[in-house]
Amino acid sequence: MYLNLNELFKKYRGKTGIGAFNLHCMEMFPYIVEGAKKSNSPLIIQTSKGTAEYLGFDWIVTTAKLFAKDIDLCVHLDHCKDIDFIIKAIDSGYNSVMYDGSSLDFEENIKNTKEVVEYAHKRNVSVEGEIGSIGGSEDGIEEKINSIIYTKAEDAVKFVEETEIDALAVAIGTVHGLYNGKAKINFELLDTLTKKLIDVGMVLHGGTGVSDEDFHKCAEKGMMKFNVGTELNKNYIENILKDFPSAKPTTSLRGLLKNANESIVKIVEHRSNVIKLA
Ligand code: 13P
Repeated sequence: MYLNLNELFKKYRGKTGIGAFNLHCMEMFPYIVEGAKKSNSPLIIQTSKGTAEYLGFDWIVTTAKLFAKDIDLCVHLDHCKDIDFIIKAIDSGYNSVMYDGSSLDFEENIKNTKEVVEYAHKRNVSVEGEIGSIGGSEDGIEEKINSIIYTKAEDAVKFVEETEIDALAVAIGTVHGLYNGKAKINFELLDTLTKKLIDVGMVLHGGTGVSDEDFHKCAEKGMMKFNVGTELNKNYIENILKDFPSAKPTTSLRGLLKNANESIVKIVEHRSNVIKLA
């Protein structure tokens, strides 16, 4: 079924966290779905603004609805600071969007997020907001770590109450992109946030590089949405680099992409399994 974040959270809270995988190109779509199916898990396919522009809203939505016939699936616009673009995504059939006003001052972030919520909720579209700063590259393909500004619990409560968002991206120690070392998650902060934020689905950004153990622990502590982007891109490219050098112009392109596609299935299946609770 084609379900928004709110509907997914209601259905799966206490049973499993939900993987939100960043689609980078057309090719990956069926393999992300196959991985979720193998794991028997619901799925969030998310696109950056760049991917949405590359593939077009219509292709993404039509394809998603086709797959949603036999899997619970949401199509979500990841980190977007452009409200006009968000409105276009909603009008084109995305059933979830993220307004990222984390770089704005707090009150302005609230005001803009509320505006998005008002438009989205009337159309049964869920909204994710962000406060604090997760850092790193948000298109998920660069290797850098910025300083994290941890989410403050009081701010999070006020933000959720005033905006009525469905999901909140919290900064608890993960960053977007590749890590130089191991992600250090502040579980104490996560506990505080979970106790105070009952009506909202919390979102872990920067899933690449977070260990299976930490992923599962976050799910146990009530985190609902688990974003993974760079890991897909990285594995896809690594397989292409391995398999393409031996290719001739007559080699089957499909054959050459086989290992890259299979790597996507494996990652999605594995990550989805790790956040199951039962
Ligand atoms: P990674 O690219 O680090 O997995 O993060 C993905 C993400 O959080 C997208 O918003």
